[in-house]
Amino acid sequence: MRPARLMKVFVTRRIPPEGRAVLAGAADCEVEQWDSDEPIPRKELERGVAGAHGLLCLLTEQVDRTLLDAAGANLKVISTMSVGVDHLALDEIKKRGIRVGYTPDVLTDATAELAVSLLLTTSRRLPEAIEEVKNGGWTAWKPLWMCGHGLTKSTVGIIGLGRIGQAIARRLKPFGVQRFLYSGRQPKPQEAAEFQAEFVPTAQLAAEADFIVVTCSLTPATKGLCNKDFFRLMKKTAVLVNISRGDVVNQDDLYQALASGQIAAAGLDVTTPEPLPTSHPLLTLKNCVILPHIGSATHGTRNVMSLLAANNLLAGLRGEPMPSELKL
Ligand code: NDP
Ligand code: DGY
Repeated sequence: MRPARLMKVFVTRRIPPEGRAVLAGAADCEVEQWDSDEPIPRKELERGVAGAHGLLCLLTEQVDRTLLDAAGANLKVISTMSVGVDHLALDEIKKRGIRVGYTPDVLTDATAELAVSLLLTTSRRLPEAIEEVKNGGWTAWKPLWMCGHGLTKSTVGIIGLGRIGQAIARRLKPFGVQRFLYSGRQPKPQEAAEFQAEFVPTAQLAAEADFIVVTCSLTPATKGLCNKDFFRLMKKTAVLVNISRGDVVNQDDLYQALASGQIAAAGLDVTTPEPLPTSHPLLTLKNCVILPHIGSATHGTRNVMSLLAANNLLAGLRGEPMPSELKL
């Protein structure tokens, strides 16, 4: 028997099968979904969320005051299929007593794996090398041709030694990294012990690291953290990798640093905006490798993310503890 009063759930995208199945099986909910792989237009989102008790969204939706107003007073739970929550107006959400679910941990391995791939791809110049094979630039084995930078005996700096930052360090250590540095809001001696990582000011990390991996969350404090002052401190031979959010890096300053040879190379899985326009100056540089935000993109990970997001949503709606609730 269907419960007398169904809770309305709005889902902003076609999500992977495991999450979809959980929502489809929720007898106490009436689920409406934007049934497309493409982002929902804002007008449709505002229309769809009106009167909803629960919202399952992605990082592509800005959940701001306007959207919360469009949703109205019924809205009790927002579940985002992401670990990043910078697209959510958390102060406003908290003020309205709305609970938030997110998807930490389940994507850590996939994202760390991608970060290491991007670091190696960038530092060993793989896209350039592949292109040379195709365009006839490969004429002979040459001692000085296509040289990049190796990890052995290097210093790696991690900005934000959180779940993903630690998972990256764990994967990089066997490459022979000599020294790990990290920066953040405060030292994390327990987590850092595994890598004998040293807590240092951001400026010291910039100056001493051969590879810098940005894995912090995007907050007002980290917005634009990697800017011209930061790049000025970096070694000319150093490589920057960003898997966090595009806004942590000032892209105009990065372009200048890369184009002028102030730093060696950059690998970005995240940009501002996303997608990056194909005419963007960064795309003209050989020493900049850009991926389309695919850190968590393995079939298994996306499935589990959708499952966790669905379970967070339903638990929240039913007044139960969520598997992963963001403490506001
Ligand atoms: P965590 O919360 O575990 O880690 C975030 C880290 O950022 C923490 O160590 C935190 O430090 C640090 N941090 C916060 N403020 C600052 C600051 N001012 N300066 C330096 N560090 C700071 O999150 P995850 O590791 O799970 O995820 C990190 C981020 O990665 C997400 O927020 C998301 O933006 C991004 N991400 C990107 C993916 C992709 O596809 N490219 C996939 C998944 C995540 P403290 O411990 O002191 O709070
Ligand atoms: C996140 O979860 O925040 C990523 O950016 C996408 O998985």
